[in-house]
Amino acid sequence: MKKIKFTDLYKLIPEKKKIFSKINSLVKNSKFIGGEEVENFEKNFSKFVKAKYCISLGNGTDAIEIALKSLNLKKNSEVIVPVNTWISTAEAVITNNLKLVFCDINLDDYSISMEDLKKKINKKTSAIIVVHLYGNPSNIRQILKIANKKKIKVVEDCAQAHGTKFKNKHVGTFGNLGTFSFFPGKNLGGFGDGGAIVTNSKSLYLICKRLRNHGALKKYDHKFSGRNSRLDTINAAILDIKLKSYSKVIKKRNELANEYFKNLKNTKKIQLFRLNKSNTHSFHQFVIRCSYRNELKKFLEKNQIQTLIHYPYMLNELKFFKNKNKFKNSYNLGKKILSLPISEEHSIDQIKHISKKINFFYNNRD
Ligand SMILES: Cc1ncc(COP(=O)(O)O)c(C=O)c1O
Repeated sequence: MKKIKFTDLYKLIPEKKKIFSKINSLVKNSKFIGGEEVENFEKNFSKFVKAKYCISLGNGTDAIEIALKSLNLKKNSEVIVPVNTWISTAEAVITNNLKLVFCDINLDDYSISMEDLKKKINKKTSAIIVVHLYGNPSNIRQILKIANKKKIKVVEDCAQAHGTKFKNKHVGTFGNLGTFSFFPGKNLGGFGDGGAIVTNSKSLYLICKRLRNHGALKKYDHKFSGRNSRLDTINAAILDIKLKSYSKVIKKRNELANEYFKNLKNTKKIQLFRLNKSNTHSFHQFVIRCSYRNELKKFLEKNQIQTLIHYPYMLNELKFFKNKNKFKNSYNLGKKILSLPISEEHSIDQIKHISKKINFFYNNRD
């Protein structure tokens, strides 16, 4: 079998003719910033997740930073963040002059641990950033129950969870605001950086809209000092085309995930996701927890199968966050996890082949 790349971004582009001709016409008409492409995408993305408002942005990191800023939280109050996530989630807390508090995760679906969350909440807690990591929804209803009781705000980081649903409702629409990334490697990825915030609150929508555009809603209407964080017109047009067929992406990723479950469920030394069937998973990553992780990774590489690690360290292990807490579930997790290829360009045969190699590795190891 030919080399199996983790993702092949070029192969992932649907409707290439349509996309390339759209780019051509935008370039010919010098449409680069704002305009109806951006407004259309915002309208269609908010319709897709069933939120009232969408603000498109330059990237998913800005989305979390701006979402948090719009909540006007008390300076130095505490914001709880799961310890296994991309660094942006934590950076948004620091850049807003808030105190970062890490929380453990659970090992079934890698979402925030309810047990540890309850321990981390105190009088100084002003917000929780819930991360729907790998496309798996966190138990957002339970989190909201606790948060609402204590008047704690909730931001949902859905950078990896476009189309993920808790029960029948899209993630990103439960908390005060939901944030998304359209980085090229994401399930819904653009041709460059991109991001968005969704919310059902008109006042938060207007603040975020101003924050992304120098404090202004229109030209020269600055009400405070904001920043420049815009989704480029070309990128918005591409994302809008990709969004139209996005349900096919989720369907394909679910088919591939089911194939892994079928082939690896009896493999000793591997732990698969344990997921709640009443939710919709978008399978941004298919992560296994395994013994001899580095050896398995090397073995797969030798067999022309590319894998990645999301992430090789937990955020509390990064020295500059100065965290002294120990975490039961996520301790050393970065040394045990491995992300297997799961992109819509992969075939069922490729997943069968990868699973066969993994089973061969473990059958011949002990
Ligand atoms: C969980 C999570 N949050 C935030 C981000 C930040 O998104 P961006 O790269 O678009 O800034 C990412 C992207 O990698 C992510 O995976």
